[in-house]
Amino acid sequence: MPSVEKIIEDEISSPSVFKEKHKLYPEYTPSSLPHREKQLKQLAQLFKSFFSSPGEEMQRVMLVGSFGTGKTVTSKLFGASASSLASRNGIRLKYVHVNCYKSRTLPQIIYNISLDLGITLPQRGLSAQELMRGLIEELERRNTYAIVALDEFDYFALMSSGLNSIYVLVRAYDEYVNKKKRLHFIFISRSISTLENIDPSSSTYFLKNIVEFSPYTYSELYDILKERADEALYPGVISDDELKYISMIEGYDKGGSGSARTALEILVRAGESADSEKRSSITLDDIRKAHVIVKPELAMLQDQVSALDRHELVLYLSVIKALKGSGSGFVRIGDVEKIYRVLCEAYNLQPRRHTQVYTHILELRSMGFIQTKSSGKGFRGKSTLIGISAAPLYVLESKVEELLKRE
Ligand SMILES: Nc1ncnc2c1ncn2[C@@H]1O[C@H](COP(=O)(O)OP(=O)(O)OP(=O)(O)O)[C@@H](O)[C@H]1O
Ligand SMILES: [Mg+2]
Repeated sequence: MPSVEKIIEDEISSPSVFKEKHKLYPEYTPSSLPHREKQLKQLAQLFKSFFSSPGEEMQRVMLVGSFGTGKTVTSKLFGASASSLASRNGIRLKYVHVNCYKSRTLPQIIYNISLDLGITLPQRGLSAQELMRGLIEELERRNTYAIVALDEFDYFALMSSGLNSIYVLVRAYDEYVNKKKRLHFIFISRSISTLENIDPSSSTYFLKNIVEFSPYTYSELYDILKERADEALYPGVISDDELKYISMIEGYDKGGSGSARTALEILVRAGESADSEKRSSITLDDIRKAHVIVKPELAMLQDQVSALDRHELVLYLSVIKALKGSGSGFVRIGDVEKIYRVLCEAYNLQPRRHTQVYTHILELRSMGFIQTKSSGKGFRGKSTLIGISAAPLYVLESKVEELLKRE
């Protein structure tokens, strides 16, 4: 064995597909957000009066959407731009981002907001209301405004001993009718159903200004991935078809969850897989492998293959082989059937007719073993295209062949 130092040194100095890997991490804020222009505009609209007459009104806005739809990143980017715009207009505005998983009680939240603003409040002995008063007075004294984003707010709403806590937040200025409203809130939540239990006298304040984040579609994810990959990977590391393949797996309109987070994570893991094998580009199998890591339930699927009967196994093997042969993400059902007929002979099975094969394909799809899509109209007419994202093809192939050998 080479020396430990040599092993580590070789690994560290080996080339990588990543130019700037950190640019794919969730905590990195990209400079542009494709397909979130509408949400940014809505936010700007809701804060418009702040810029024309700061302090006149307290803004309370709610961002709602499922996981990975860009709520956090949009809020941060909006906050950063709003602060610099304000400063150019001579207004002192700061953006504060609070994660309610970390700051779980109202006093903690107010304390952390203050800390971020450089305001020190006594850590003990004061009630939430007293802390809030301290914060408001200090903002007044410093002639400063703040936009506070409360991220994972549904968690806070659920846990907070708190309907009263929410009241303290949203109606912070009730007792200061004549004071300038210096605290503004962006609440971020995955759904509004968790907020329905909140006392209407509080919830009406944020439920009337809702900005919705819909799950990303296939083509939206492609645009996002393309931009982020260009920044983070060396040129030529990943092809358009491979980026489209990831977008297909995750695209909401293709049955995926529509999460940019998951799509980016698949990209990172696929790149790591290429790195680990010292290859200079990412392959479809790297993506399949990454998909399994990111979605562990797919590993379970690989085990479930053993529940398929012989006929289904042969058909599944035909799809695997057709995909391997084509080197692309999807193949035509006709091409699968050609291989299927040859394999049936090899495994001593009577091949089924097209309509039956098609029914089996639909079954395999509903069990999650394969994905299908329509080819759209081509020169050979419309056809069903079949793909597999559950695992790298070579893993599935050896698994299925082993099962077929057993019987
Ligand atoms: N339109 C976009 N363009 C580029 N990157 C995006 C876009 N939308 C989301 N992302 C990226 O996807 C990841 C997830 O986004 P974000 O954390 O904002 O989602 P979220 O809606 O807050 O999800 P959650 O509810 O799980 O917190 C981040 O890495 C973010 O940078
Ligand atoms: Mg978030």
